[in-house]
Amino acid sequence: MARTAILNVMVQAATKAGRSLIRDFGEVENLQVSRKGPGDFVSAADRRAEEIIRTELTKARPNFGLIMEESGITEGTDGQHVWHVDPLDGTTNFLHGIPIFATSIALERLGQIVAAVVYNPVMDELYTAERGRGAFLNDRRLRVAGRSELSEMVFATGLPRIGHSDHGRMLKQLRHIMPELAGIRRFGAASLDLAWTASGRVDGYWEYDLNSWDIAAGALIVKEAGGYVSETDGKQGFLESGNIVAGNEIAHKHILRLLKAAQG
Ligand code: IPD
Ligand code: CA
Ligand code: CA
Ligand code: CA
Repeated sequence: MARTAILNVMVQAATKAGRSLIRDFGEVENLQVSRKGPGDFVSAADRRAEEIIRTELTKARPNFGLIMEESGITEGTDGQHVWHVDPLDGTTNFLHGIPIFATSIALERLGQIVAAVVYNPVMDELYTAERGRGAFLNDRRLRVAGRSELSEMVFATGLPRIGHSDHGRMLKQLRHIMPELAGIRRFGAASLDLAWTASGRVDGYWEYDLNSWDIAAGALIVKEAGGYVSETDGKQGFLESGNIVAGNEIAHKHILRLLKAAQG
């Protein structure tokens, strides 16, 4: 299916930022890095990629608002559209030379996410979706995994940051969930956890305390690939709460059930 003009703008911004990330990844030991909090870093690579995306998006649509991880909120003048941008999702991986990271851009129109791009520059994998028009990996249409047996499923998740108070809850959940599955993965980039749920590499995914820039694009890609996305209690406000469960219909149901059971 041909991409719309707005999706082309997003693809152009994400791939240009991706090329900048690849250049910086090649010289990661020389990058300037600062610490935002315990286990939370930002580098010159994050900032450079963010500026590339800002320039591309504002050149094409000067009136739209922006929510960007590193530079915060820029109010728009059209009152209808907001971009949610994570220039480098997976900074910890990036800084350790682990080649699992992505650029994530979503477009919100009148409160709904309508277009999404997640670009993994190392694998040159471009995930795109538009509301009602399906999800794609490069030119291939995506569909969530078809597995129905929990014992054959692999789920991705995210662990709370160092110093975070949620470690106890996570350990309880893992104790409940791990014996039921084929495996658990912690890849370290929420946008790719969702993109890989959409492409069926993993059957499901859950994580807490994320931000809209981490998940807005990936969530639309999962939905457009035929998957289910909700908060951990089944409600729809995951962009606000940052608590998310995604998967094929069966995996999604199982995760909700298991998280509830783990609460005791
Ligand atoms: C992080 C990644 C990670 C998730 C963290 C996020 P960042 O984003 O998505 O997988 O567990 O909570 O903050 O900081 O690398 O863009
Ligand atoms: Ca970060
Ligand atoms: Ca992120
Ligand atoms: Ca980031």
